[in-house]
Amino acid sequence: MKVRKAVILAAGLGTRMLPVTKVVPKEMLPVVDTPAIQLVAQEAAESGIEEIIFVISPGKTSLIDHFAPAPELERALEEREKRELLDLVQSVRNLARINAVEQHQPLGLGHAVLQAKNAVGNEPFVVMLPDDIFDCKPPLLRQLLDVAEENDSPAIALLHVALSDVSKYGIVAANKLSAYRYRITGMVEKPAPQHAPSQLAIMGRYVLSPEIFDLLQHAKPGVGGEIQLTDVLLGLAQRRALYGYEIACPRYDLGDRAGFVLAQVAYALKRPELADSLRPRLRELLSS
Ligand code: G1P
Repeated sequence: MKVRKAVILAAGLGTRMLPVTKVVPKEMLPVVDTPAIQLVAQEAAESGIEEIIFVISPGKTSLIDHFAPAPELERALEEREKRELLDLVQSVRNLARINAVEQHQPLGLGHAVLQAKNAVGNEPFVVMLPDDIFDCKPPLLRQLLDVAEENDSPAIALLHVALSDVSKYGIVAANKLSAYRYRITGMVEKPAPQHAPSQLAIMGRYVLSPEIFDLLQHAKPGVGGEIQLTDVLLGLAQRRALYGYEIACPRYDLGDRAGFVLAQVAYALKRPELADSLRPRLRELLSS
């Protein structure tokens, strides 16, 4: 199974981060100086993905502009001999082939994926939700693709969450195969804690086969009246093997205010030029 295409879902309203998301798409909010959507696109490119298909809501063109050439900016940086900045700007547009499709109505995650049907065609692909970023080496998507390729089957990323949080996620029933690897037997979207089959939550990285599109086309609305990707994945799991891969590296939920702030601090501390001045000031803040 060779996977070349990634579908990145970026059609949400971003209500959890209002008021900034009134005008700025949530996916353009930065982690230090890099838009979240770029971090996710880099994860895809570093995992071997060649083409990225963004599913956007109408008007979210700044997302696509971010990956397009910027001739005036590039010329200005060249004239001023700002080589490093020029490389930085050019590397963004050279990440992967970029394509975009629109989702005209917010009818759910499953419906968003269906919009990419023609752009994906009849080949396996990945779906990525840019709300979550993972600080993994190799990138989380690469690790997940390895599991899918080893088994020649779809696979999804899982994270062990607190019982009090299960109602925020799709939760799976699964048999453990070996360290971090599961065979998925069932799943339920946003269950109450007493109905959760486990504490393993579906986490925004999916390797899928194209038959998912047929299932999506016939799907009925589920939780919240939306076409849920989770319900359709259950249909896929009933037809063929579906694997789970448990994430063992730090995760930052950028759709949550505390997660967003924590990501700023964690990613800044990874950069020596920022860490040296930040460390003493953070210590000061924490002790006051
Ligand atoms: C979606 C999925 C859910 C998954 C979650 C991961 O929910 O429907 O299964 O666990 O993403 O973040 P949403 O966050 O769109 O409500």
